[in-house]
Amino acid sequence: MNIQEKLSPQVKQIPPSGIRKFFDLVVATKGVISLGVGEPDFVTPWHVRESSIHSLEQGMTSYTSNSGLLELREEICRYMDETFALKYSPNNEIMVTVGASEAIDIALRTIASQGDEVLIVEPCYVSYGPCATLAGATPVSVPTYQKDDFKLMPEVLESKITPKSKAIIMCFPNNPTGGVMEEEDLKKIADIIKKHDLLVISDEVYAELTYGKKHASIANIEGMKDRTILISGLSKSFAMTGWRIGFAMAHPEIIAAMLKIHQYTILCAPIMGQIAALEALRNGKCEMDKMIEQYDQRRKLIVKGFQEIGLSCHIPKGAFYAFPNIEATGYEDHQFAEELLKETKVAVVPGSVFGQGGKGFIRCSYATSYSQITEALERIGEFVLPLIDKNKNEQAI
Ligand SMILES: Cc1ncc(COP(=O)(O)O)c(C=O)c1O
Repeated sequence: MNIQEKLSPQVKQIPPSGIRKFFDLVVATKGVISLGVGEPDFVTPWHVRESSIHSLEQGMTSYTSNSGLLELREEICRYMDETFALKYSPNNEIMVTVGASEAIDIALRTIASQGDEVLIVEPCYVSYGPCATLAGATPVSVPTYQKDDFKLMPEVLESKITPKSKAIIMCFPNNPTGGVMEEEDLKKIADIIKKHDLLVISDEVYAELTYGKKHASIANIEGMKDRTILISGLSKSFAMTGWRIGFAMAHPEIIAAMLKIHQYTILCAPIMGQIAALEALRNGKCEMDKMIEQYDQRRKLIVKGFQEIGLSCHIPKGAFYAFPNIEATGYEDHQFAEELLKETKVAVVPGSVFGQGGKGFIRCSYATSYSQITEALERIGEFVLPLIDKNKNEQAI
């Protein structure tokens, strides 16, 4: 039997995750300092873990309603209103998902299909393109640039829109660039979206992790709430990646449609995670603020470090990634990451894993300890300085 012939064309079309492939290499190397992983290095706060343990002791091991525990939906709506002034009804404008990941997948499958184009703001989280392809749609790259602080520029978006464009998917604060969009920037994008009658999938999982200005959501721009599927979750903000709790907020008809896919494929998010999320949202703000304070200190350390090494690095204003430009070394990003790992045992992610716009950059997560970052920067410096010199000399000849 030829197994390949039995696989669906869409599945064959999508590549395995570039991050995973690279990290198989990292796992095989001993003594590595990893700036590669996209998850908090903090353990979920104890009171959150304890609430879940307590629920297990009480025998809470059942399914919940498809859209998630009503109590949790109410709590998420309260939290989003209080934190970002976003107003949604817990009854029909929200559903709890298995991480933001599931929400991205079912949002795309709900609105996009064969013949549609989905505009993907890049560099971006690795799942958008493949999920659009799995939905049968065609992903269309909309690049962002270092010169624009990795903001989405209205003219770039406009140039990529065609009659087939159905939706745009974007993420601010951004993984991998750390770029953010302020309200004024979002207003210009919203005008284009309204003019071309598009929907938006707005992945805001890093909304809490901003340094300086408070997060602005496109759903809050006039006329945008009905056009937006807002996706978020507790993985990053509350250090809860393993609990797999995310959510989607949107127009009741979109949520009802998303629920159809969710109830036939997932049924509901795990109850233990939902109980833990409830506790985190109610009583976790203090610990979250402490984590953000730590990320901010590490952010300053890593950006200064790269600038001293001679790698140009835009100042990330959100999430927990630095995205230095490594073109001065003369290496392309995959080669750079592989050689760096081999020579210095520091793991970073090649920028092109996140789409074309990431070419010539590396993603360095600073969700790791201050001392590990200091050591990593030293090793990267030793590796990079001779390369920069060599590259300069070659260009001078
Ligand atoms: C932008 C972005 N969206 C979604 C996810 C997935 O989040 P979750 O763990 O909630 O599925 C990630 C994880 O790295 C991410 O960076």
